[in-house]
Amino acid sequence: MSRAAPKSFHVKSFGCQMNVYDGARMGELLASEGMAEADADSADLIVLNTCHIREKAAEKIYSDIGRIVKRADTAGRGKPMIAVAGCVAQAEGAEISKRAKAVDIVVGPQAYHNLPGLVRAATAGGRALDTDMPALSKFESLPRRRKQGPTAFLTVQEGCDKFCTYCVVPYTRGAEISRPWHALIDEAKALIDNGAVEISLLGQNVNAWADGGRGLHDLIEALAALPGLARIRYTTSHPNDMADGLIAAHRDIDKLMPFLHLPVQAGSDRILKAMNRGHDVAGYLRLIDRVRAARPDIAVSGDYIVGFPGESDADFEDTLAVVRAIGHAQAFSFKYSPRPGTPAATMGDPVAPEVADERLQRLQALLAEQQMAFNRATIGKRCEVLIERTGKRPGQMLGKSPWLQSVLIDGGAIGDLVTVEITAAGPLSMNGQVRTPAFV
Ligand code: 5AD
Ligand code: SF4
Repeated sequence: MSRAAPKSFHVKSFGCQMNVYDGARMGELLASEGMAEADADSADLIVLNTCHIREKAAEKIYSDIGRIVKRADTAGRGKPMIAVAGCVAQAEGAEISKRAKAVDIVVGPQAYHNLPGLVRAATAGGRALDTDMPALSKFESLPRRRKQGPTAFLTVQEGCDKFCTYCVVPYTRGAEISRPWHALIDEAKALIDNGAVEISLLGQNVNAWADGGRGLHDLIEALAALPGLARIRYTTSHPNDMADGLIAAHRDIDKLMPFLHLPVQAGSDRILKAMNRGHDVAGYLRLIDRVRAARPDIAVSGDYIVGFPGESDADFEDTLAVVRAIGHAQAFSFKYSPRPGTPAATMGDPVAPEVADERLQRLQALLAEQQMAFNRATIGKRCEVLIERTGKRPGQMLGKSPWLQSVLIDGGAIGDLVTVEITAAGPLSMNGQVRTPAFV
């Protein structure tokens, strides 16, 4: 049975920054097809851009679908067209169609450039599924970047060949691919033309980006030369791809912000081995020392998993010890969640949920303490803040410090880079006062 073609859309992203980037590009694509962006309550097409990394993230979509159907019922309007995109779509495509009849379209993260065709198929009355993984064609067939805020994401690398035993990414995002140099320079220029002052380079293993003998530091150097761009960031990195040139870039390139997200995941060599991380704790700590020698004020972020199969009390104490040795500006921590199809899911020797919960709480308490200590240590510093949005109070603005802290200030406009003196620290945000550099 055919239906009316959707005239408006709403994209909801649930996952990592790359998932958010994909969501933005799907929005641009649908807009280029003449559809208008709308809110979740009124859109004719709702794209749920899902994340598969942990169980909670993956389960969320089913409750969301239920809510969308119910809301449309209550409002007395027809069910909107529902597209499930992202990594759950990739991993569980057919199962989603079976389990949630309200879903019209399933589209994987490497196939979303085909969304307009899938929408047409669903309009004609079918259910449409595309979870192909054609290497690079997605980027080539997406429209040019649209107007957006002062900070922009740019996917430079996708996929992963590392096969950490807990992780779905090699399966949902496929093998590592690097986008070509010229395509990236072009997209960066388009972003800057559309108002981007800061670009964050994205990749599951962003520091493995390579094209024709050039590495990520070469790309960063070329982007730093583009007029109009003030800041460059990159995420997420793997310790084994942290090239000398990239470490040196933190010393040599002012526009490269002093922030490094470099997950170690655990502090026990035994667990790192079971995770197939390909590095040990000592090697990681040496790397951090070298990065800090290049850029002493660098803010170090990371990811941790607690409760990996076989993790003993002693292993967990080693994780706390490594966190203490590093001193994070911020870090993310997760309870291990077995993902179907990954080697760790069949390892046995699970950690009891209440033990994992308690470990997570202890780790999070330590990380919160470290974040507060880092924030306190920036009081009195003068730095540039890039204003991203308005704050809660009238006249108040919110921006980011070079170390990625949220800073509340009075005055300035979105997109401004202002010199600020940090005056107070909270656990999650800082207060600052705008200073005119001339009075320094
Ligand atoms: N369980 C818990 N956390 C996970 N991560 C990845 N896979 C899992 C999993 N199965 C975490 C890792 C990774 C971050 C993005 O998510 O710490 O770095
Ligand atoms: Fe989630 Fe990983 Fe997919 Fe990002 S790449 S949306 S973290 S599963």
